[in-house]
Amino acid sequence: MGDYDLLKTKWKKLKGQVTDQAKKIERPPLQKEYNQEAKLIDLIPHEQFTIGQISFAKIAYQRRSRRKGSSQPLTFEELSFLLFFTNGVKRFDRPMFRTVPSAGARHAFETYIQVERVKGLDKGLYRYLPLSHQLLFLKEGSYGEVVTGFLGQNFNAGVLFMWTAIPYRMAYRYKCESEKLILIDAGHLCQNLYLACESIGLGACGIGAYDQEYIDAYLEVDSIEELVVYNATVVK
Ligand SMILES: Cc1cc2nc3c(=O)[nH]c(=O)nc-3n(C[C@H](O)[C@H](O)[C@H](O)COP(=O)(O)O)c2cc1C
Repeated sequence: MGDYDLLKTKWKKLKGQVTDQAKKIERPPLQKEYNQEAKLIDLIPHEQFTIGQISFAKIAYQRRSRRKGSSQPLTFEELSFLLFFTNGVKRFDRPMFRTVPSAGARHAFETYIQVERVKGLDKGLYRYLPLSHQLLFLKEGSYGEVVTGFLGQNFNAGVLFMWTAIPYRMAYRYKCESEKLILIDAGHLCQNLYLACESIGLGACGIGAYDQEYIDAYLEVDSIEELVVYNATVVK
């Protein structure tokens, strides 16, 4: 058995370290760069959402991990809603505030989605661009290919969420404390997805059992500077 070091705070050790932020090194970008020629899709802005009016008490009480759904496609508004409420930006000044909390507002995540059934969207892999509330089309890829990386768990989902961390965004300020903080933050992302789904009649299920190398390779991330830390399925 390990010593559960990851679970322990290293805050006292951090006090003795000089962070890159303290050294005034340029801060890492809040969103991963992308090919400016790539296809971008505008999502529905949150001011125009017409869904999600159920009371918090009802949503929180009803929440469950939902693994079974229909073959109905999600609407484009539903997908826009889920992306905004899991990582959308509410305030663009510094610090930038989003719909989820994050230690020191570092927001170390990128959101990738594999679309299987969403009205108006081609199947394939996309990345959410929170700064402009858009989707970046990455590649066609098949749903079956991705779920292989979920170790055979296949819930007939309309959309799969895969959250990667770019650890340096957190380490820039929190060095040795950053891994613990990233994992705590990942829980916030997925809890928002659970509650957002519940509020619009969809179902989410967090997926912690996955093949690290396989999903990282599918997303074309290097497992060092960027790596998947958590996933979730969404059913209608
Ligand atoms: C971090 C985390 C990882 C999980 N991983 C999986 C998974 O890989 N497969 C799965 O079927 N459910 C997974 N779940 C769902 C849990 O099994 C579920 O939350 C638990 O059984 C309690 O049920 P409830 O969410 O309906 O309350 C995960 C949940 C969490 C929070």
